[in-house]
Amino acid sequence: MSELDVMNEPESATEGLGGDKLLKVENLSVDFPTDDGVVHAVRDVSFTLGAGEVLGIVGESGSGKSVSSMAIMGLLPKTARIGGSIKFKGKELVGLSYKQMQPVRGNGVAMIFQDPMTSLNPVYTVGWQLAEAYLAHHDVSKKAAWAKAVEALELVGIPQPDRRASQYPHEFSGGMRQRAMIAMSIINDPDVIIADEPTTALDVTVQAQILDTLLRIRDETSAGIMIITHDLGVVAGMVDRVQVMYGGTVVEQGSVDEVFEAQRMPYTVGLLGSIPNPNLLGKRLTPIKGAPPSLMNLPQGCSFSPRCPLAIDECRETEPQLLETDRLGHFARCHRSAHLATIENPQRLFAHEEIGVVENPAALTMANPDIPVAEDLDDVEARLQEEEKPTS
Ligand SMILES: Nc1ncnc2c1ncn2[C@@H]1O[C@H](COP(=O)(O)OP(=O)(O)O)[C@@H](O)[C@H]1O
Ligand code: SF4
Ligand SMILES: [Mg+2]
Repeated sequence: MSELDVMNEPESATEGLGGDKLLKVENLSVDFPTDDGVVHAVRDVSFTLGAGEVLGIVGESGSGKSVSSMAIMGLLPKTARIGGSIKFKGKELVGLSYKQMQPVRGNGVAMIFQDPMTSLNPVYTVGWQLAEAYLAHHDVSKKAAWAKAVEALELVGIPQPDRRASQYPHEFSGGMRQRAMIAMSIINDPDVIIADEPTTALDVTVQAQILDTLLRIRDETSAGIMIITHDLGVVAGMVDRVQVMYGGTVVEQGSVDEVFEAQRMPYTVGLLGSIPNPNLLGKRLTPIKGAPPSLMNLPQGCSFSPRCPLAIDECRETEPQLLETDRLGHFARCHRSAHLATIENPQRLFAHEEIGVVENPAALTMANPDIPVAEDLDDVEARLQEEEKPTS
């Protein structure tokens, strides 16, 4: 199957409720020319998002998640060179000016940023800022806009929204501010909401509440939602489909159950191993050894090859394509995904790489209600030593 086929994959149950494609991103690339060379921040990224669908975009810091979403919002700096296509309701967004994008931004596609304090203005009340955002797209009275602001605060679960609307951002707790940001993003009833690491700065209990709020908004407004995170645990039990990014490109994608159950690309296996897991209480976490590639100087072949426990010569020579695996609707960019499929408990591939110890069981279960059961790492290591090295 070619990359084109991947983009034109047939409608499936995992591909959005109702199947209409609000957003269609095809072969998106973003380069930043700098004095030191060209940063290939995003390479060949394709995906679709339907109404009422929740898509998770996961990857380590620097993998191109934010740049992809800024490209969709038309908020990249002028120096950025953008290739490929971003269609919103069939309309091409690549090439539109900042001004031409204005009606799309907020109204069509809205974004929730990681840090609410940088997006909320400290000198105006929360209600006033929400009302202003509404007035920017609607010709109504100030009173009507204020009523809309209070309604939005209520929708995101802020108690006493009437009173809260008259308060300033600093009078809100971290979790409440993030809710206010969500209120800001939904006030113009957007079709698509992009949430870029919306819960990273919050504690686990508040994280769960915020994610719940986003799902409730999806249920009430049928918005398509993209949740961007570096933590695969955040998207478990939350999104319909997940797309794993590495080195600026998509390395694995499929329904969230598929990707959690049967990884077909070693990087995803490593990512899963670095999720704090209640089954590993008192055990060490196993992150992936080494650093992500330089986007200015990508390695030849597969960009994960310098860190990959399954790498063979072919991996270091030829970049793999994103192809459908042995499982329907599940795609991986890996020469050895068929081999990976035969490895029982692939977590052991990374098991010798250890850092910190899991200590707080309550926090773990809260953060990761649905993570798969992993076996005891001591057993894994013993077995790893027994088993012979995999061959291709
Ligand atoms: N304006 C810019 N100029 C040059 N490089 C940039 C610029 N913005 C982002 N980058 C680079 O693009 C890469 C991807 O960044 P980003 O999408 O923010 O990653 P993340 O996955 O953490 O959100 C990073 O290496 C980052 O340094
Ligand atoms: S292509 Fe090779 S190096 Fe890349 S992830 Fe697959 S096995 Fe590892
Ligand atoms: Mg980011």
